[in-house]
Amino acid sequence: MALLGRVAILSLPSGALSEPKLHRQTRNFRASGLSTRSEQLSDTNAKPQYNPGFLDHLFLNLFRNKMAQEIGWDSKKPGYDGLIEVANRLMIGRSNSETREAAVRILKSLFPPLLLELYQMLIAPIGEGKVAAMMVARVTALSCQWLMGPCTVNSVDLPDGSSCASGVFVERCKYLEESKCVGICMNTCKFPTQTFFKDSMGVPLLMEPNFSNYSCQFKFGVLPPLPDDDSSLQEPCLEICPNASRRRAATSDLEALKCPKA
Ligand SMILES: *[C@@H]1O[C@H](CO)[C@@H](O)[C@H](O)[C@H]1NC(C)=O
Ligand SMILES: *[C@@H]1O[C@H](CO)[C@@H](O)[C@H](O)[C@H]1NC(C)=O
Ligand SMILES: *[C@@H]1O[C@H](CO)[C@@H](O)[C@H](O)[C@H]1NC(C)=O
Repeated sequence: MALLGRVAILSLPSGALSEPKLHRQTRNFRASGLSTRSEQLSDTNAKPQYNPGFLDHLFLNLFRNKMAQEIGWDSKKPGYDGLIEVANRLMIGRSNSETREAAVRILKSLFPPLLLELYQMLIAPIGEGKVAAMMVARVTALSCQWLMGPCTVNSVDLPDGSSCASGVFVERCKYLEESKCVGICMNTCKFPTQTFFKDSMGVPLLMEPNFSNYSCQFKFGVLPPLPDDDSSLQEPCLEICPNASRRRAATSDLEALKCPKA
């Protein structure tokens, strides 16, 4: 997602501003700080493994602290479990749009404002936005696996009919799976992340979560539909969403099957 980090923003795609020194640094940075994915996935149903490195812990803690600051509350649980509790809290006592606005503020607070302005001003316009879209795809795939699990850069079709390496495919989004609810995914992740990239970095983004297999396709360079028209909102609640199953048990009303928080 948007946890690109100040350092990571420097890791440009090959081709754009390719300076050898920068490249070497990027590789070291990746090898030392970020995690490795284990290749022995014998069982295809097994969750993709991702072993976090120290930079991942750094990102997690930075992100969580910003969330806790916004909410004014922190969980007692350490690590990822605590992060999910804090994310749940973001929904409590807020309307959906308030939750989305709070999440956008959190994402923005992770970056120096000047960097966002410069990116939007200098990089977003290059090559009709394709360079900026490919850059953020790379950086997202590189720096956000601690949050979402293994992901890879792939090609997506842009509205102008061309295809561009500005996609990120998340095999099985850890955040979606652990937060367990369509509403949390939509309001603390999908909508705010789309808004953040568009408004703060000048890069349109469409995120397509699949609630059956927890995959998520990021399409940088593609404008999302208006939130009310987004097909993801038609999805029923996940079986594992605790409030949704409670509601299902309490009522036979079909309306209750629609995810209320989404
Ligand atoms: C789940 O239900 C509890 C009370 O039953 C409520 O306080 C909480 O806000 C609900 N969470 C979500 C995400 O709707
Ligand atoms: C989501 O994934 C399932 C299982 O792979 C697939 O059957 C379904 O068509 C996908 N849904 C969408 C909207 O792509
Ligand atoms: C999950 O669904 C997406 C499409 O929504 C598909 O591209 C992907 O292959 C599916 N993954 C698995 C493991 O079925």
